[in-house]
Amino acid sequence: MSNRKILVTSALPYANGPIHIGHLVEYIQTDIWVRFQKQRGNLCYYVCADDTHGTPIMLRADMEGITPETLIAKVSKEHQADFDEFGVAFDNYHSTHSEENKTLSSLIYERLRDAGHINSRSITQGYDPVKKMFLSDRFIKGDCPKCGAVDQYGDGCEVCGSTYSPTDLKNAVSAISGAKPVPKDSVHYFFNLENFNDMLREWTTAGHLQPEISNKLAEWLDGGLKQWDISRDAPYFGFEIPDAPGKYFYVWLDAPIGYMASFKNLCDKQGIDFDEFWHKDSTTELYHFIGKDIIYFHALFWPAMLAGAQFRTPSAIFAHGFLTVNGEKMSKSRGTFIKARTYLDHLNPEYLRYYFAAKLSAGVDDIDLNFDDFSQRVNSDLVGKVVNIASRCSGFISKRFANRLSDNCSEPELFADFVNANDTIAELYETREFAKAMREIMALADKANAYIDDKKPWLLAKEDGKDQELHDVCSMGLNLFRVLAAYLKPVLPTLVKEAEQFLAIESQNWVAGLQPLKGHTINEFKPLMTRVEADKIAAIIEDSKENLEKTVDAVKANSKVEPKAKQFEPIADTIQIDDFAKLDLRIALIIKAEAVPEADKLLKLTVDIGDETRTVFAGIKSAYKPEELEGRLTLVLANLAPRKMKFGLSEGMVLAAGPGGKDIFVLSPDSGAVAGMRVK
Ligand code: MSP
Ligand code: ZN
Repeated sequence: MSNRKILVTSALPYANGPIHIGHLVEYIQTDIWVRFQKQRGNLCYYVCADDTHGTPIMLRADMEGITPETLIAKVSKEHQADFDEFGVAFDNYHSTHSEENKTLSSLIYERLRDAGHINSRSITQGYDPVKKMFLSDRFIKGDCPKCGAVDQYGDGCEVCGSTYSPTDLKNAVSAISGAKPVPKDSVHYFFNLENFNDMLREWTTAGHLQPEISNKLAEWLDGGLKQWDISRDAPYFGFEIPDAPGKYFYVWLDAPIGYMASFKNLCDKQGIDFDEFWHKDSTTELYHFIGKDIIYFHALFWPAMLAGAQFRTPSAIFAHGFLTVNGEKMSKSRGTFIKARTYLDHLNPEYLRYYFAAKLSAGVDDIDLNFDDFSQRVNSDLVGKVVNIASRCSGFISKRFANRLSDNCSEPELFADFVNANDTIAELYETREFAKAMREIMALADKANAYIDDKKPWLLAKEDGKDQELHDVCSMGLNLFRVLAAYLKPVLPTLVKEAEQFLAIESQNWVAGLQPLKGHTINEFKPLMTRVEADKIAAIIEDSKENLEKTVDAVKANSKVEPKAKQFEPIADTIQIDDFAKLDLRIALIIKAEAVPEADKLLKLTVDIGDETRTVFAGIKSAYKPEELEGRLTLVLANLAPRKMKFGLSEGMVLAAGPGGKDIFVLSPDSGAVAGMRVK
């Protein structure tokens, strides 16, 4: 049919956390596309790897008391087991911490350097004198210079939304040790993106990107490209820069090179020609599937790096949107932050593959997993429509015709309709319009069921002299089922494999030119898929909540909702009893509660702590309306040094329980506590 040569990647998952169902949108989308290409007869390789470098992984290993190498080996095993069980079939799964990646990263860096695209200069950064390391913005916390909100990260305030540099933070501390950062100079290496301005303007508008992405990038390009800081100082888990001892490549420099490295590793194992796929004038195709959060790296930095180092650039970048669950961002407290493993403990992975396929388009819109919709679609489409065709027809073929199909194809036109749909369906798969492809396929399934309803084999079976007709109708039904199975194969590899065993046929290629099976003997039918059970979904949600409680604080902090930023929060070191004795904890009566209009999270509370009245600002606006709080009791740290905030002086701290957001709890009204009680 064609001899396309295609290399496909999905983004490399970070090695500091488990695969969750949000990730799976991407890996399932890519896997479906790759399986489709292979079924079409194209040569297609699908490679991926764990993204293993960077500070969060280093600190996490530190915290667990293991080496980063041990940590990434453990996580890689878990990731691969998850992918495997979801049917995500990589041709190679590697690691960015590999020889291949080290060699290629150095090569690309040296080529960029020799072509004059790298320069270096000294910059001043916060330095943690205790941990003896430089602190990137997200590892510095303090009070917002604009609104005074406490506990904000170095790059921006979550309360008032302002952005600033970490040196502007008030009362800044290292998020790792709690020490006060000191300014320190160090030489950094920069990739001069400006040199690629023209190249990128051209590349980003030449059909390699989805239109909405091109437009977004045009805005960024108009704003001017800055130099990209590609080095980090020791200690850093990564690759040392060849001509700069003690300096390491920033993780995002070697991460995309990890695509090449994984492919190189495959080439060496299988004797594939690496250069044919990567040299400057390659005629092979290269596609990167990514989430919309990492477009900047893939559509600007990466093509510039490749072009600057005399390699080919990607044929296209396919970005997708983010997964929400039941209409909201995945949430640990709601039990919708679902790990791949938790899902696998309860439900058939092909349900999710089908559901995502039924929701995915070529665009970057977010997609929602709604569990009612999920059950309904799977039950009605897969069980009720597709599998039902086989179960309705196979019984008669088995009981009455010894599992042998008729020598006739009684409805050649109907069969031809099914086969002729292949161009449309192929086009939809090719253009990643999977939802539309699923609709086409289900429309055919409806047609097959309507045919069976019309012929009523269950009545033919009871009438004399209708044997041939019964045989023809059921054989026809199974022939139609066979075509549907071929169309669904990229999405449901396991179900279709079992269907092929049932039909006693070879693994099906794309169906162009397919002829009906006649006089062919099939195997005994076994149920191919059962309905989604509601209690299994409830169990997933329950287990996902449980996971939260079992997760140690540090891990929680490490896998916070924002994956690209703020990946880490320290757990405090243990304190001594003397430290505890210093705390003056009191039951406080909330006399008055008022919103602070300029701050999204803060309420201004007037509290009675027994011997005096205090004003305290508390970040609990997300959980309570001010009027709900008046008259209630809370716990207050009374001897915290007063802090001056933009809106006034905060004279203590309210202690509340819960994970955050809507789930923050002060004491209940009938706790028996009285204002002023000391808590010890
Ligand atoms: N390590 C980087 C990618 C480096 S590629 C050279 C990274 N890792 S990640 O683990 O955070 O994300 C991996 C992929 O999963 C990204 O493409 C990301 O967009 C995607 N997703 C992560 N959470 C997601 C959702 N909730 N929904 C959909 N995709 C999501 O980024
Ligand atoms: Zn602020």
